[in-house]
Amino acid sequence: MTLNTPDTNTHSGLLGLGVYRPARIVRNDELVERIDSSDEWIRERSGIIERRFAGADEDVASMGTIAARNALADAGIDAVDIDTVIVATFTHKYQTPSASAEIAANIGAVNASAFDVGAACAGFCYAISVADALVRSGDARNVLVVGSEKLSDVVNFDDRGTAFIFADGAGAVVVGPTPEQGISPTVWGADGSSREVIIMSPDTVTAGREGVPSLLTMEGQRVFRWAVGSMGDVCKEILDKSGLQAGELAAFVPHQANIRITDALVKKLDLEDSVVIARDIQHAGNTSSASIPLALHALRESGQVTKGQPFLMVGFGAGLAFAGQVALVP
Ligand code: UT7
Repeated sequence: MTLNTPDTNTHSGLLGLGVYRPARIVRNDELVERIDSSDEWIRERSGIIERRFAGADEDVASMGTIAARNALADAGIDAVDIDTVIVATFTHKYQTPSASAEIAANIGAVNASAFDVGAACAGFCYAISVADALVRSGDARNVLVVGSEKLSDVVNFDDRGTAFIFADGAGAVVVGPTPEQGISPTVWGADGSSREVIIMSPDTVTAGREGVPSLLTMEGQRVFRWAVGSMGDVCKEILDKSGLQAGELAAFVPHQANIRITDALVKKLDLEDSVVIARDIQHAGNTSSASIPLALHALRESGQVTKGQPFLMVGFGAGLAFAGQVALVP
């Protein structure tokens, strides 16, 4: 017995990009007292100069909604033409229903299926892989992929290892049919044997509020060593699968975890000076699943990359999960 397969042989690519950066800018000086640190130490060890925190009335869904609307406008696509909404996040307020269902309703994506992806800082690239497969299989025509995080709700501002790193924001892309393939095959994986190095209990509703301890903990050095030790090879494999040489890339957009991780990967990949390196962490902090679309948007806004140019993205973090692709700038 054989069943029908979708009648399609389309390619897929990124059609539009949008972001949301919360209004409130938080400079290092605001955080250092509680963790006996300094602006200088934070800049030197992480690259972060400032980050943004969302307001009390904002959350993963509200920030993701704005980023999603901006991505739809950028793509010139109506919400009713979105078939699937995928949100990468681990700071949505509810275990269920999903942030994606809320965002789909907010934007009027009344024809869309909706689900969240839980792969922490690798989540955006996981979701891109799923979206690419959905479009090429014919199960969806246009897919909205959102990365949105409100980490300020779950961080313990007395914890020296995490208080200055994490921040809030959202980014979104529309993935849809294209004449030529605009997203490379994905390289991805996870190592659950190290699951304790970044871990968060599920009570995101109350975590981090006054009188309630943070539920997020990280063994920073272990994560740092893992990222620097293995993401270079992952990036080389992504390039290999994409069919491009490193010199053909217009930009390298790794997850904005720590500027020293980015610099170490640039060295390992031996990237030429012509390749633009995303360093959005300096002004955005580490926004987990939102960091890659935010960083890509910053490069496009400043004119450092333009539509159609190839860039390499790679996400990595809790899980320990990682994923990446080469894609063409929307
Ligand atoms: O996005 C998900 C994935 N996450 C990441 O990729 C994060 C990876 N990890 C990191 O980015 C880094 O581990 C951190 C930025 C979190 C920490 O930097 P580090 O270079 O690994 O610091 P460390 O924990 O090794 O500490 C170095 C020194 C220690 O002092 P001694 O023992 O050398 O005298 C710490 O006590 O710095 C001290 N220290 C601090 N000093 C001032 C640790 N935290 C602080 C602090 N301010 N906040």
